[in-house]
Amino acid sequence: MKAEKVDLKKQMREQKEMVNIVLDRLIPRKNDYPKEIHKAMRHTLFAGGKRIRPHLTIMVYNLFSKEREDLVWQAAGAIEVLHTYTLIHDDLPEIDNDDYRRGKKTCHVLFGADIALLAGDALLVEAFNMVNELNIKAELKVRMIADMAELAGDKGLIAGQMVDIQSEGKAVKRKTVDFIHLNKTAKLIQLCCRFGAYLAKVPASHVKRLDEFGEKIGLAFQIIDDILDVESSSEKMGKTVGKDQAENKATYPSVYGMEQSKKKADKLIDDALKLLKPYGEHANMLKEFTLMLAKRES
Ligand code: IPE
Ligand code: IPE
Ligand code: MG
Ligand code: MG
Ligand code: MG
Repeated sequence: MKAEKVDLKKQMREQKEMVNIVLDRLIPRKNDYPKEIHKAMRHTLFAGGKRIRPHLTIMVYNLFSKEREDLVWQAAGAIEVLHTYTLIHDDLPEIDNDDYRRGKKTCHVLFGADIALLAGDALLVEAFNMVNELNIKAELKVRMIADMAELAGDKGLIAGQMVDIQSEGKAVKRKTVDFIHLNKTAKLIQLCCRFGAYLAKVPASHVKRLDEFGEKIGLAFQIIDDILDVESSSEKMGKTVGKDQAENKATYPSVYGMEQSKKKADKLIDDALKLLKPYGEHANMLKEFTLMLAKRES
């Protein structure tokens, strides 16, 4: 059979545009009272993120279905909104103290830490609201909200962020950095895969497989972020590089060494691709996307 032709760049351009339209429609206007909070929320949300999580949500859904994509745009947008809150809070002086994000000044630098905190809070709440407003059966909606709470909460993303800040300046074990990365980053990426699979209404065995796929690429994604903090440039990344070493962060390169980190990321990507085998050429786009994540320089 002739392989389905994949134009990843074109697909990604279109997906990005759709997600941005949905986000623009659902997030209050910057002139809505009280203006400063909405300006701050919009600043980081539209500063120029890669929209990796929405792409992933949509591509997982597209493994099975191309119908009713409007639902998927909104679910994907909800995860991006939640992700943006994590970035605003991650950059605060009390956490990573970063001045640049997505190629622009960070939220707290422009608006002050008080407003940045509230903007993050508002985005977090809005993410749940966006899932709640999906026009789907209540049972599925409750499951999606519960998963979002579990994976982003104090047993998930926040646990990762917590151990990340506690590990600063300490010599940590490999299992600690694994815990940090799986929680602070991989879990939200798993949520994308779950949402895509749930909305396509596939059997639990597929949800499980794609959840595993998400865990592997999620962990690889954070390892690569750590590598790029050493090897890429601030211009390419849109954020200050070299910060992890300066702050003595527990990263993959600092704990496993650079060579091992690269090997580990490659192995995770290979294993993730193996999980896509049963989907045959329906997975061509998702495979290309996964390979692109592995090779990213920004
Ligand atoms: C940054 O995520 C935080 C990490 C989990 C490494 P991204 O690299 O996806 O950042 P944006 O959304 O493109 O700004
Ligand atoms: C951030 O990890 C993960 C979350 C925001 C949850 P990093 O602190 O490494 O992300 P960057 O490098 O600031 O984007
Ligand atoms: Mg951090
Ligand atoms: Mg950070
Ligand atoms: Mg980083």
